[in-house]
Amino acid sequence: MATMQMSVRPEDLSQVPRGTERIPDPCVLVIFGASGDLTKRKLLPALFHLFQANLLPRQFAIVGVARRPLGDEFAADMHQGIVEFGGAEATDPRLDEFAKHIGYCALNFDDPASYAGLKAKLEGIDAQQGTNGNRLFYLATAPEFFAGIVENLGAQGMAQMTPHGKNHVGVVIEKPFGHDLDSARELNRQVNSVFQERQVFRIDHYLGKETVQNLLVFRFANGIFEPIWKRNYIDHVQITVAETLGVEGRGPFYEKAGALRDVVQNHMMELLALVALEPPSNFEAESVRREKLKVWQAIPPIPILNAVRGQYGPGIVAGQHVVGYRDEDRVNPESGTETYAALRLEIENWRWAGVPFYLRAGKRMKKRATEIGIQFKQPPLLIFNRMGSAGPCSEIQPNLLTIRIQPDEGIALRFGAKVPTSPEMAVCPVNMDFDYEAAFGKSSANGYERLLLDAMLGEQTLFSHRDGVETNWALYTPILDAWKSKTPEVFPNYFAGSWGPECADHLLEKDGHAWRNELGRKT
Ligand code: BG6
Repeated sequence: MATMQMSVRPEDLSQVPRGTERIPDPCVLVIFGASGDLTKRKLLPALFHLFQANLLPRQFAIVGVARRPLGDEFAADMHQGIVEFGGAEATDPRLDEFAKHIGYCALNFDDPASYAGLKAKLEGIDAQQGTNGNRLFYLATAPEFFAGIVENLGAQGMAQMTPHGKNHVGVVIEKPFGHDLDSARELNRQVNSVFQERQVFRIDHYLGKETVQNLLVFRFANGIFEPIWKRNYIDHVQITVAETLGVEGRGPFYEKAGALRDVVQNHMMELLALVALEPPSNFEAESVRREKLKVWQAIPPIPILNAVRGQYGPGIVAGQHVVGYRDEDRVNPESGTETYAALRLEIENWRWAGVPFYLRAGKRMKKRATEIGIQFKQPPLLIFNRMGSAGPCSEIQPNLLTIRIQPDEGIALRFGAKVPTSPEMAVCPVNMDFDYEAAFGKSSANGYERLLLDAMLGEQTLFSHRDGVETNWALYTPILDAWKSKTPEVFPNYFAGSWGPECADHLLEKDGHAWRNELGRKT
């Protein structure tokens, strides 16, 4: 089993296999913020998977950039990250081969002079390895450095294609892209004053997830769902991103972010768009982005009463006592930051008018599950019986399609079946369940493989456009402003290891609905 996970074939990275023409041109990937967690846990393991699968060009270099002078320590640390988080065997000889492609450059992000050193280093790599001036800059730093790095790259002429236009230069920007509408606009202005929009890759790692991409395939490669994918048949939609983790040492970042900025405004809105968009005419970046944008633009302002927030107190998660948010490392003991957010919104278009979408995201929840639940309407006349007065068969339940993004990746459809021994035609809910791992085997890909490869290829379909980012900030900034202006009276308001605050239940009760808390595999 270990061997199976370690060695990644192109078909294991099932995001990738469009054939050998997908191998990018020679290129240097420059990772700013290379000493951070993201580089070690996700980016380098993903790059190693691509290397194993022979999907990287032969002339390829990775240059880690951070403030600390790390030198060889960097490659050693990355080696350890690839083993720990990428499933590689520590003795795999390809790790040493891969390490030959890794370099490091210490640089003070704010110091314009030190970019000249980076430029010289990259030119040296071009001369030695034939990378032809092709660059992909990856900004994995704290967000406050994004604008300065972009500006300095521009000032050194590093953002431009060469005059003969033969090289590719791109920039990948991690989230959060701004912290509200004004700051996102300003960052877009700064980025677009240096890079053209087609060079910019605003990354949302949810779009690298296999199950997220499968939403499009599920809807548009199958004939049976699309005719009923609309207000006439769907009662409501629930999207949950529940994590059992707390803030994991990221207190200073999370204090400024909170659940709405960290997860709802980006990851969850991407999920919502893929559930709700109209069929794009093809899978080109322009077509898909246009349809997503139309969904977000059709969402009317969310009344403040339809958005609730929570913060976890101490509790028990997976059998372990954990501290409350205010006792986490480097968190204000009187913090008003939300670790949970839930809201109700509508999409005012012909397909969805009147169908509530409920979104919730929380840290330190009872169970880890990212799921989309599409609840269908009941048949107009129920001619059969329920069974008993308690238990799962005591109600005739409507059809429910659950799309499990993670873990237990899969899709289940609930429907009513006759209980075999019941002479009175009693109905009980049962599930048809598709399980990704059972069908396709396990893959060690973490989602960044596809996104990194696409960015190197200049393929933008799975990245956010500036209009989309700004539209989502426009929707959420009034809620963030309202929350900022009023300190929550009763924080913490949910126990770690629970399903969140009571006020989130009331949000659905008003419509006669309830959160589905039986998340995970159905069989
Ligand atoms: C990140 C957030 O973008 O997504 C984290 O900053 C969160 O707080 C993470 O834990 C969730 O991602 P995943 O892939 O684990 O669902």
